[in-house]
Amino acid sequence: MFQFPSGISLDDFQHRVAALERDSHFEIIERNLFDEGPHLVSTGDLPWGDDVRNLAAETYMRFLHGETWLTGVGALAMQTEIVTWMGRLLGADHPTGFVTSGGTESNLCALLAASSRARRRGSVVFPEYGHYSLPKACSMFGFEPIIVPARQGSACDVDPAAIDAAIRDDTIAIVATAGTWAYGSVDPITRIGEIAETRGVHLHVDACFGGYILPFLERSGYDREIPLWDFRVPGVSSISADLHKNGMAPPPASTLFFRDDALLEAAKAMCPPNGTIAGTRGTGPIAGAWAMVTLLGEDGYTAVSLQTMKLRDRLFSGVEAIDGVQIYPGSRINVSLLFSDELDLSHVVAELRTKGWMFSTRNHPRNVAMVLVPMPQNERAIDPFLEDLETAMSLASPLRRISETESGDSPYGV
Ligand SMILES: Cc1ncc(COP(=O)(O)O)c(C=O)c1O
Repeated sequence: MFQFPSGISLDDFQHRVAALERDSHFEIIERNLFDEGPHLVSTGDLPWGDDVRNLAAETYMRFLHGETWLTGVGALAMQTEIVTWMGRLLGADHPTGFVTSGGTESNLCALLAASSRARRRGSVVFPEYGHYSLPKACSMFGFEPIIVPARQGSACDVDPAAIDAAIRDDTIAIVATAGTWAYGSVDPITRIGEIAETRGVHLHVDACFGGYILPFLERSGYDREIPLWDFRVPGVSSISADLHKNGMAPPPASTLFFRDDALLEAAKAMCPPNGTIAGTRGTGPIAGAWAMVTLLGEDGYTAVSLQTMKLRDRLFSGVEAIDGVQIYPGSRINVSLLFSDELDLSHVVAELRTKGWMFSTRNHPRNVAMVLVPMPQNERAIDPFLEDLETAMSLASPLRRISETESGDSPYGV
């Protein structure tokens, strides 16, 4: 049989690909209550079936050969369309920004832009439950992190007065979150925006999770109480929002939006030529995201967001009906923490994983808690998950404080 230059045969190669694919559990995507990624895998309840997903994948493949230098003309035009369309939905009059490789890069670039405009390094103020990309940015770029504790008795709520008190003369940015990891809560951004304006500090909103769902939930009337958090808050200078999370696009793709061109120019001055940390960017992810945005539009994203929240709400009421477990209060999006006040869930978690369920864990505010992120592809998984959870609860034991290391202290605790 024909062998490739490396010596591997086609058969061996196919076997290896199949084995690695199997190890990645793609085939049980419905049981994955953690991953973001290209979510329109199974859209049972949405009218377009798999058409949108297939066209996004096809468009991605057609731009597989490109990079953003010489062959980037098409993808850069797509980037402008994405930023303009979504930036307007986020309340910007003249939307500006770019597509990055993910939420982490978007957050890093936002802080670099703030530092570039301030022409110094200095400190960055953010709540303790801010995403780990924030301390990461600080250690990478020599900013001093000023970490503000959550309000007493809460894991995901910050007192704006505590943010105000933490700002120093050298502070270059405050970061607030719209859709916190693990809790799904939204920070009091209107008040924090007033503080940012008064103190003359850049306010970056990390809406990596909430960015592509909150605007549609607000417009649809699903949640009319969502406090303002986007560019309609005058003090907000930049917003990161991930296309590869609730934007439903194939990874890696996120967007960073700036309130004005001056900030984009400051970003470019710090990270020439585009403002991104990456130099060469593949055009495939930009094209895949553009296809998603172009095919779904506002109505499509609204339908996806409502479908997502329908699943979340089913999950919430199912969990609340099971003795001993609860959903942590405050979630406004499809990220939520399932925890117990009185029971140790370690064995429950292990049992659910044995049954093929994929989710992340967190050990704050209680011993091992599960982070659940329902997406449209989980439609058929909600009821079986709840059944398995209820059965596995017989393995829960009385609560004993365990150390961070015992419960797996990775950023996502995956
Ligand atoms: C609130 C928040 N910000 C930033 C990020 C980082 O995103 P990424 O993993 O795409 O770098 C995440 C990831 O879950 C997140 O939840």
